[in-house]
Amino acid sequence: MSAYELRDIEHVTIVGCGTAYYAGLLASYYLEQLVDDLTIDVVVASEFRYRSFHMPKRSVALIVSQSGETADTLACLREIKRRGVRTLGIVNAVGSTIAREVDGGIYVHAGPEISVASTKAFTSQVAAMTMFGVTLAQAKGTGLQKTAEFVDELSQLPNEIKKVIRTHQDEIKTIAKKYARYDHALFLGRDTLFPVAMEGALKLKEISYIQAEGYATGELKHGPLALIDDRFFELLLISEGWLFEKSISGLQEVKARGGHVIVVTNSSKQIDADVVIRLKTKLDTLAPIVLNVIQQLFAYYVAVARGNDVDQPRNLAKSVTVE
Ligand code: G6P
Repeated sequence: MSAYELRDIEHVTIVGCGTAYYAGLLASYYLEQLVDDLTIDVVVASEFRYRSFHMPKRSVALIVSQSGETADTLACLREIKRRGVRTLGIVNAVGSTIAREVDGGIYVHAGPEISVASTKAFTSQVAAMTMFGVTLAQAKGTGLQKTAEFVDELSQLPNEIKKVIRTHQDEIKTIAKKYARYDHALFLGRDTLFPVAMEGALKLKEISYIQAEGYATGELKHGPLALIDDRFFELLLISEGWLFEKSISGLQEVKARGGHVIVVTNSSKQIDADVVIRLKTKLDTLAPIVLNVIQQLFAYYVAVARGNDVDQPRNLAKSVTVE
């Protein structure tokens, strides 16, 4: 898209299924931070395709898919195009149906993803959509300082992920073994860590078969607190930023009900939980992507400890080409 066309965009709709949907949700927080006067919605493809949706004028739709073949996502693409709205693909598989049918887009070039549970595609999808946000912000001339921060962190991201895997692998393995015996899990996060919590829960349930739910920490009192008992553990994502104290109060609510809490954080402040995984990363805004990698490692080692086939979980397929 030309700078002129980008300047014209006032609304973005992000469409995906499963991990692609959560990647879109995280990216939507970043797009909001990057671009002023932009409205965004993120939708689950299997629902959106049957809704009587209206998209504002000057919209663009981001169609997110690792395989580029997911039936529900493809159906949305066609419905959106039928309404005359411009579509951009955020796709990994080169030459796939979605890649061929969108008006334009970005290949995330994550390489072949073998395991059914999506991992590196999530990281690349978030990065690609964030880069789209940076391009949009530059075209509109908004948030110049914020844009520079994002560019700086994006360039550090690959090394930070490598470093975190190297540094934390053994620690995560030991912790995962301990928590593999639980039947239920609650993943909690605020702000950008809310979509990451939902993605963490999805990863754990897909490959370990532990029933896992992702929730916004601020929603604890509205239901999830009733679940806490000895068969449950809670994984709380806490970032160093301005919502730190609010996240700590969520932690206290869980602890007061006898929860078994793992905290994953990039903060060095004192945190009182059963286990605290302290991430050493230079990243700030993009730290949630790195925290997500920790969750992927955690899900992986829990599944291994339970003797599961991590690459081919039961009942699931990598590419869902039927409804
Ligand atoms: C399946 C996979 C998920 C994936 C989703 C969307 O359900 O098991 O891991 O996130 O499809 O796939 P896509 O290829 O469209 O990203």
